[in-house]
Amino acid sequence: MSRLDRDRRSGPPFPGLVLPREQWTRTRVGLGRDQRPVEWTAIFGRDARRVVDLGCGNGRYLVASALTRSDHDHFGVELVPPALRLGSLRAGQRGLTNLKFAWGDASEFIVARCPRGSIHEAHLYHPQPYYERSQRDRRQLTPQTLLGIWRSLAPGGVFVFQTDNPAYWEYACRTAPLLFEWRVHVGPWPDAPAGRTLREIKAREQGLRIERALGVRLELEDSQAQQRAESMPAPEFDANKEGYGERAAQPRKFKRRRRGGPRR
Ligand SMILES: C[S@@+](CC[C@H](N)C(=O)[O-])C[C@H]1O[C@@H](n2cnc3c(N)ncnc32)[C@H](O)[C@@H]1O
Repeated sequence: MSRLDRDRRSGPPFPGLVLPREQWTRTRVGLGRDQRPVEWTAIFGRDARRVVDLGCGNGRYLVASALTRSDHDHFGVELVPPALRLGSLRAGQRGLTNLKFAWGDASEFIVARCPRGSIHEAHLYHPQPYYERSQRDRRQLTPQTLLGIWRSLAPGGVFVFQTDNPAYWEYACRTAPLLFEWRVHVGPWPDAPAGRTLREIKAREQGLRIERALGVRLELEDSQAQQRAESMPAPEFDANKEGYGERAAQPRKFKRRRRGGPRR
């Protein structure tokens, strides 16, 4: 597939200029298998404010933010390799040294690998709703991940959440305010009027309502935060509420073919 095709599939062009090849940077890192917390200074070669995107997709938000905030280090965790590769390529082509991508489970990362109090922003844009009941346990926003985000953030740190799924939004608004001062943000973020992420851009094209919030980490004792997380419901909600995503949830219809009959 040509680069042009890949650009089309990833929405409007990424911000920033593609530099001559000799100025491209390496932006992929491995999380390692030893389950130890990551060492930020080893990853970025400096100590700076840190921004983490959990399930960063193709990294559009991170690339834009890293270009405009060179004094912040950015880190994207994503499970799907092609999305990760594209984000990493786009960041490298722009010569960014303050953005790295890692393949892996972002929930596991924030709960077990991200050092306590070491990040200043955690972003979660349009987490996969997982419509099937059997897949609900894959949802990214859970009491455990909320507690993980709270623990990973430095005092005053912020959790940015965004979704176009009404049930997901309702769940976030029931749970996150127990650990964050929850400020609903109305309308697009000023830094990205057309959309911060690919999913936001696509959802807007489809006329879906997008909900956004910024949560400032509450100053709580550890035990208090733990208790609050334990009191939260599990994300067992029906993501198809109010008909949202009905099409995506419907089983695919396949035409029955007579054995040995011609393919149509
Ligand atoms: C609907 S897409 C949104 C991507 C991006 N945040 C955006 O707004 O364009 C959801 C993304 O979350 C990723 N994802 C789902 N569960 C994940 C997990 N546990 N860890 C890391 N990424 C995950 C998916 O691979 C997918 O790229």
